[in-house]
Amino acid sequence: GQLEKGGYPHFMLKEIFEQPECINDCMRGRVNKETHEVILSAVNDHKEHLLNARRFIIVACGTSWHAGLIGKQLIEAFCRIPVEVEYASEFRYRNPVISNEDVVIAISQSGETADTLAAIELARSKGAFVYGICNAVGSSIPRNTDSGSYIHVGPEIGVASTKAFTGQVTVLTMLALTLGHEKKLINDTTYTHIIDELVQIPDKIKEVLKQNESIARLSRIFTYAHNFLYLGRGYSYPVALEGALKLKEISYIHAEGYPAAEMKHGPIALVDTEMPVVVIATQNAMYEKIISNIQEIKARQGRIIALVNPHDTVISKLADECIEIPETLECLEPLITTVPLQLLAYHIAVCKGKDVDQPRNLAKSVTVE
Ligand code: G6P
Repeated sequence: GQLEKGGYPHFMLKEIFEQPECINDCMRGRVNKETHEVILSAVNDHKEHLLNARRFIIVACGTSWHAGLIGKQLIEAFCRIPVEVEYASEFRYRNPVISNEDVVIAISQSGETADTLAAIELARSKGAFVYGICNAVGSSIPRNTDSGSYIHVGPEIGVASTKAFTGQVTVLTMLALTLGHEKKLINDTTYTHIIDELVQIPDKIKEVLKQNESIARLSRIFTYAHNFLYLGRGYSYPVALEGALKLKEISYIHAEGYPAAEMKHGPIALVDTEMPVVVIATQNAMYEKIISNIQEIKARQGRIIALVNPHDTVISKLADECIEIPETLECLEPLITTVPLQLLAYHIAVCKGKDVDQPRNLAKSVTVE
């Protein structure tokens, strides 16, 4: 009913707007703003398993799998442990190489996804230690794992996952930070700096949410499209995948997420005056490269919607539309850049008169294969 939606027209919009609070809830009791420390009790309780892992294997489906791709980059960067990210449905059926030296991280909002559950059963039968990252407390996955951390973002009702994704990425960030610091691969200065930036993320998301009206306005321009391309590099590549998935799920517009440089090996053939291309173009290590990717698209008359940092004068001249993203560390950018893409998908779907909370053919939790 209307009451449950807290004044918002849809659960999805409510859940998008809840994200600053959700990330604070997720960090509560774990990230200490004064002492600059991250403590995940599950990591403390199972240090030996986690610190001695030869390899991490992340298993998940859908949006949770996208969070896993970001987790891979965080864990590899901070902990120097190799990470594989697998679709649970593929992993469970291909006799994977796995042993008791592996740690499997199962990511699931509902904690009930059948393929993810089967993947962790397989992993445990081979002796792997399984760590869950779930939202629904007491659900099947947390009951069938050796350890884990809840994301604590509250019930997610909209079928298209939003706040669960940012909650999952927050937990993965805390996990990677804790392990990297324990392993002495991150020095105290870097550790403190990342934590300082992490605690500012909720306020920076609020800055993005203030642009809701302008994102709604620009969404109207693009409802005609039959195809969308989303591009990002590094930490922004999984964000591009997630942005494309959101659009597909609720607006039924075909969309593809691609690593920006890989575009020239296929998708660029599709670019014409009709083709909106969403580019995550924040000023990080890949900025110059992204500029040339944008020039390649403009040369083919593609229409650019760019996510840029404030005061960006270069891309704002090239792009048709810009959305401003407060500056943060590159490794934390996904927590912010995902939010305008959720809003973009939401407003396009609303403009097209689609049922955003219950898109056709999709289920909130896929408990059968
Ligand atoms: C369904 C939902 C998605 C979700 C996926 C995985 O497809 O519609 O939003 O990302 O399942 O669900 P889980 O609960 O395991 O995260």
